[in-house]
Amino acid sequence: MTIAVKQLHPLFVGEISGVDLSQPLPDADVDAIRDAIDRHAVVVFHDQKLTDDQQIAFGARFGPVAMSAQRARHQKMRHRLERDDIADISNLDADNRVMSIDDRRRQDSLGNRLWHTDASFRAIPGALSMLYAHNVPSEGGDTEFTDLRAAWDTLPDPEKARCEGLIAEHSIWWSRAQIGFTDYSPEERAALPPVPQRLVRRHPGSKRKTLYLAAHASHVLGWPVPDGRIFLRELIEFATQRQFVHRHQWRNGDLVIWDNRCTMHRATPTDPGQVRDLRRVTTRDLMSSVDEAAA
Ligand code: OGA
Ligand code: MN
Repeated sequence: MTIAVKQLHPLFVGEISGVDLSQPLPDADVDAIRDAIDRHAVVVFHDQKLTDDQQIAFGARFGPVAMSAQRARHQKMRHRLERDDIADISNLDADNRVMSIDDRRRQDSLGNRLWHTDASFRAIPGALSMLYAHNVPSEGGDTEFTDLRAAWDTLPDPEKARCEGLIAEHSIWWSRAQIGFTDYSPEERAALPPVPQRLVRRHPGSKRKTLYLAAHASHVLGWPVPDGRIFLRELIEFATQRQFVHRHQWRNGDLVIWDNRCTMHRATPTDPGQVRDLRRVTTRDLMSSVDEAAA
């Protein structure tokens, strides 16, 4: 079968059929998938059957697979998944039980309900995220995506001019502080120090200009903190207007890939009593956005 792509939203998001991701793929298929990601920024596959090892092997075809930041920020707890290069995006604890209300990983993970892009708080940030649904509720727990290239294209010129050349400080501790969760040890905090990232980038795959925004973005370097914080908040509001947003309703066996360099995403509410088990592989970008050429 050959790979086919159908666009699901007027601006972005491709649905790809005709490929079994559990098998080693010929280079031509990897190239076709990469082209689809470059164009659509988010791509959706259905009816896949993947072990963690297979999901990681697939991810590694697209770039170096990152260690999950969860290990760095939850240092003194048992983890459910064996490998540290896959992130546990579930509501299950190390014994496979739905997490209790006071579970700190559960509280930390509520930060995923804020619009964000993965691992922008690392010096070399996330490039592609690949989230695979093992067991999802029949209703609720959708994930929303927004296209930051389309948002940039629509931004009025004076706003574009204000954004050009700015560097924002990104920190996981800032996105978690916004939801009032600050229970991290000095060792955990030291493992993920704040980093600078460009506010405007050129998306390498499509050569289009894009905003680079996330709940992790705390303030603008060189500006008074309140000015930068409110500016970032206004940009996030602008970039998440409904015309830029696609909502993905999960089914077991879905694999969704998004390009963190030109999108944001957020989790939506889910029934806390029902199992929701997804797992994420993320590739690392080549360098800090600050070391890239100015957009
Ligand atoms: C992620 C994430 C959202 C969700 O995996 O990076 O933000 O709906 N997930 O679980
Ligand atoms: Mn995320």
